[in-house]
Amino acid sequence: MSTTFQLDTSTSRANPTPQVMKRLTVPAIRARKKDGVTATPLVMLTAYTARQAQLLDAHCDILLVGDSLGQVIYGLPSTVPVTLEMMANHGAAVVRGSYHSVVVVDMPFGSYEASPEQAFESAAFLLKQTGAAAVKLEGGAVMAPTVAFLSQRGIPVMGHVGLTPQAVNVLGGYGARGRSDAEAEKIVSDAKALDEAGAFAIVIEGVVEPIAIAATQAVTCPTIGIGASAQCDGQVLVTEDMLGMFERVPRFVKRYEDIAGVIDRTVARYAEEVRSRAFPTEDQTYQPKA
Ligand code: KIV
Repeated sequence: MSTTFQLDTSTSRANPTPQVMKRLTVPAIRARKKDGVTATPLVMLTAYTARQAQLLDAHCDILLVGDSLGQVIYGLPSTVPVTLEMMANHGAAVVRGSYHSVVVVDMPFGSYEASPEQAFESAAFLLKQTGAAAVKLEGGAVMAPTVAFLSQRGIPVMGHVGLTPQAVNVLGGYGARGRSDAEAEKIVSDAKALDEAGAFAIVIEGVVEPIAIAATQAVTCPTIGIGASAQCDGQVLVTEDMLGMFERVPRFVKRYEDIAGVIDRTVARYAEEVRSRAFPTEDQTYQPKA
């Protein structure tokens, strides 16, 4: 049965019918991997708006308010210019639109790298402003002290290793990582360092498959793959990519729909009906009461 939403005018919150399940928790996500095995892989998608969250929520375990919103929503050239305020605004919208999934908000570039204290201040701001349950940050062993600092102070952290898009200016592009022995070893040791520091889950992005599998087997917390392996403990995609909103499809994306095509055809019909005065009809106009 599909979910419908009723606007509660006193809270401005759209309440779902039927009432969806209770919201999952970070410990429940962490506990999905037991003795190295995740029986049912974790489902994670990006969400940036309340309506998008409403549509995705019941199907997902985790909604990620990714800093990919820089490119997807704002048309920026990379995630580097994304600000804490952007993440806070979109994070709050996604929390308002969801009832079931754990909402994780990305820490944007420049908001956490300088010190664990800087990271705590930024992460606390995001959790207070949004009501989200956790943050995600990019980087491996070098970020482990920050992950420990936050986790020990009440802020659950999702790690992110392999291809880390915020480091595009150092990496020189978005190619897959882990092709050399040194890079492969670093990805696995980065994942282990984050796991030991207390990360509740780790995104493994754009990594050659055997290394994604080795990293997954090396850590006790769930790994979530994107361009990694079906043997990760879960998967994430940018929702707009998998829905077919963009012409450019990265190799690791499966396009499940052609929403761009649906929008193009629908808007063409609307434009044609406006120009021919076929819209609006009597059904869409107000007439004086008889
Ligand atoms: O920002 C994002 O959307 C992400 C995912 C692609 C993992 O970090």
